Amino acid sequence: MTTCFLNGNYLGIEDAKISVLDRGFIFGDSVYEVLTSQDGKIFGLDDHLVRLEKNLSEVAIPFPMSRESWRDVLAKLISIHKRIDLSFYIQVSRGAAPRSHIFPRDVMPTVFVMCQPYLVGRGFHQVTCITLEDNRWGRCDIKTTSLLPNLLLKNVATEKGAYEAILIRDGYVTEGASSNIFVVKDRQVFTPATNDRTILPGVTRKLICDVVRSVGITCTEREVLRDELSCADEIWLTSSTSDIVAVGILDQISVGTKFHYPIGRRIHSAFKDYKADNSLGF
Ligand code: PDD
Repeated sequence: MTTCFLNGNYLGIEDAKISVLDRGFIFGDSVYEVLTSQDGKIFGLDDHLVRLEKNLSEVAIPFPMSRESWRDVLAKLISIHKRIDLSFYIQVSRGAAPRSHIFPRDVMPTVFVMCQPYLVGRGFHQVTCITLEDNRWGRCDIKTTSLLPNLLLKNVATEKGAYEAILIRDGYVTEGASSNIFVVKDRQVFTPATNDRTILPGVTRKLICDVVRSVGITCTEREVLRDELSCADEIWLTSSTSDIVAVGILDQISVGTKFHYPIGRRIHSAFKDYKADNSLGF
């Protein structure tokens, strides 16, 4: 049984209980983060905590803990789990209160952190995807636990034998149901911009942009047309749990330079080095 952190206590996951009035349960009134550790070192902690604080501000939930306290909780969970590679799930809900659409005052947020063994990726590999219409709300920049629209899309993809749904809004690529998207064309890399609230500003997305630029390849954040997917040389998905993955087949058609993925392979390897050099040990 894994150990989790709930409101200041370390407990076996099966002993951790919250109120049925918790607004995270009743309304999905909560935000979350997912990050990983390898060899006892956490990757991207500052970026994840900056985004967590931004999301808490966006939905007017008070910050429950300092950055140092978050770091201490994760360090303790790493030590409890004997430094095996972990993925962490952090959730902060507005707390428990009588059900009302109006935000309650003076409620303590519920703070929950769980972890599970993180199976480090299979190396750079290819997956099958489909495109679907992005029918989610207008604040996809907020990492909220209200994920039912994402779940519906992901499950349509799964039923069709695909790993991920690449979402299209008004003819433009937004993101995956649980990942960000990159497109390579003529040795240049593009990824949808984050300025119109239609995508989550992924931590991996930002760091992959840095890594692409660091090896001397142009990486542009701009609108990406759905039609650009059809003529892309490479398409990648990025997320904290899968790093960077190649889209081999999209809507039943092989993507670009079939099975070669020269730039994706290079970035996958450079990102691995970047992670090793930029993780926080204790
Ligand atoms: N999801 N876009 C969406 C909709 C996501 O859910 C995620 C990650 C990403 C990638 O963000 P990041 O690089 O910060 O992980 C983009 C996580 C892993 C999840 O919900 O489990």
